Amino acid sequence: TTTMFARSTAARTLARRAFSSSARAERKVAVLGAGGGIGQPLSLLLKTDPMVTSLSLYDIRGAPGVAADISHVNTKASCKGYEQADIGSALKGAEVVVIPAGVPRKPGMTRDDLFNTNASIVRDLAKACAEHCPKAMICIISNPVNSTVPIFAEVFKKAGVFDPKRLFGVTTLDVVRSSTFLSEIQGTDPKDTRVTVIGGHSGVTIVPLLSQTEVAKGVSGQAYKDLVKRIQFGGDEVVQAKAGTGSATLSMGYAGAIFVNSLIRGMNGEKNVVEPTFVKSPLYESEGVEYFSSNVELGANGVEKIHPVGQLSSEEQELLNACLPDLKKNIAKGVEFATSS
Ligand code: NAD
Ligand code: LMR
Repeated sequence: TTTMFARSTAARTLARRAFSSSARAERKVAVLGAGGGIGQPLSLLLKTDPMVTSLSLYDIRGAPGVAADISHVNTKASCKGYEQADIGSALKGAEVVVIPAGVPRKPGMTRDDLFNTNASIVRDLAKACAEHCPKAMICIISNPVNSTVPIFAEVFKKAGVFDPKRLFGVTTLDVVRSSTFLSEIQGTDPKDTRVTVIGGHSGVTIVPLLSQTEVAKGVSGQAYKDLVKRIQFGGDEVVQAKAGTGSATLSMGYAGAIFVNSLIRGMNGEKNVVEPTFVKSPLYESEGVEYFSSNVELGANGVEKIHPVGQLSSEEQELLNACLPDLKKNIAKGVEFATSS
């Protein structure tokens, strides 16, 4: 299996790829919310990915400035910024759309507290995508991901253009954090430390499968509990440290660029590209959970294969038991909002 960590460590690889001449296909990527805390570093990293040949940066404010700045980076992707009235031009021809538009948390808030603001932002962007690029691969970063992905899907269903293979909730930051935090404990190189994370993207819905990682052997008792808690609530660490000015932006820009890179490699025909991502999934459908993150093989048409979760330890089974009811509620809230509005 070719994974993001097996293949690469990020900055080094993105830099090397930036000057490689072996990119295989032309790909237009649109970033919606490109002027924001995530949007800016994400767009910069995408500009250094040689598989991206055209970047379309959209925001309700500031995107032309960000695009002018990033366009001076000497990589081959063209880069153009679009203002609010130009969303149609921004999306036209986009094969991948990444969406970090919306408000971030402040200390004391849960991701669900963002629902009231971000649900309508994602709904409206979904309407625009349904109209201008219905076949694009859509990567949702805006929180609460557990609800915004179902919202996006419902808008596409209403428009008659929903393809469950082309809609992804980006949970890569949980995978990146797991790798970092576990490496810190075990003294390993993060590039050799890969943890599958399943479930959703908030608190107890985040379920790391440490028992499936050789490097995690020996992490038990309180150390195991602390590690799981740190992975599940890693976002809070950043929200606290930023003290009211926002949440993770730079690590998210990095994680988003990694996910888009994997997605495009799969689209370009590379085999065995696997990432955990939150998709419409049969795994827990019988328990009423319609969307679920697990390892997904990415291919020419998006989701190629949804891997089962594999063998779980008794602790992981307990974590999953706690995840499913919360996830089910978050999904239902998104569906209800989109169908009633
Ligand atoms: P930010 O406030 O810095 O940036 C958000 C940007 O979205 C702003 O530039 C704003 O103008 C823009 N925006 C708002 N409404 C828009 C619309 N209708 N169309 C286009 N752009 C619009 O916030 P941020 O720190 O970049 O975070 C963005 C979102 O990502 C938040 O909801 C945050 O919770 C989420 N997030 C998700 C993850 C994840 O792992 N999935 C990680 C970090 C943050
Ligand atoms: C994260 O995990 O960092 C993001 O979801 C932002 C947040 O609100 O914690």
